[in-house]
Amino acid sequence: MAEEAKKLAGYAAVDNHVQNNQVVGVGSGSTIVYAVDRLAERVRQEKLNIVCVPTSFQARQLILQHGLTLSDLDRHPELDVAIDGADEVDAALTLIKGGGSLSPAHRGCLTQEKIVAGCAKHFIVIADFRKDSSVLGQQWKKGVPIEVIPMAYVPVSRTIAKRFGGEAVLRMAVSKAGPVVTDNSNFILDWKFEHAQNWKEVNTAIKMIPGVVETGLFVGMAERVYFGMEDGSV
Ligand code: A5P
Repeated sequence: MAEEAKKLAGYAAVDNHVQNNQVVGVGSGSTIVYAVDRLAERVRQEKLNIVCVPTSFQARQLILQHGLTLSDLDRHPELDVAIDGADEVDAALTLIKGGGSLSPAHRGCLTQEKIVAGCAKHFIVIADFRKDSSVLGQQWKKGVPIEVIPMAYVPVSRTIAKRFGGEAVLRMAVSKAGPVVTDNSNFILDWKFEHAQNWKEVNTAIKMIPGVVETGLFVGMAERVYFGMEDGSV
């Protein structure tokens, strides 16, 4: 059910927002896979000229596996559209990203995802019905991912708990053999907050803590969100 919903959202975003001669940002996670399937299909069928900029190693592999044209922000610093998934979306289209339903040890691509989304004229989000929330934290229980420089994870974790409450826990690899390491060679803290906050202020405040690279809070970035629903609608 959720997989079909992801597919509906991914297909709708590509059909409504991708046109010929565009540079497209490709997000990470499990939902984006369907969007890339559809993008590759359209490129083949309609002979579109599309250049793709990845948000992660996973996205890069997806682009290559689908035979799409791979680029980067050096060559294409301005994107027409970026399409990506989300862990949760509230009524103001504030997102939590960097969790991912692929595995609890997801590498957390939030930093590159935010950079690519920030370079795009239009940032379009795709998700299944489970991600739709009026208030962040209602659906997604794993907290806000925060990418940190490895040497700073303990002080950052303590500062966040002291200032904003809750607990910021180091994300571990599935084997528990060690921490998850991001595509940028950093660690991820999952901040399990206790209650809804002013996300714009909290995002800025957390980013100012020395050692924080980026947060998984995307405030005021998403232009439109496509939710695939259980009844087959979008
Ligand atoms: C990856 O770092 C995340 O931001 C994902 O894009 C997001 O969490 C959605 O993932 P799923 O599509 O797997 O739910």
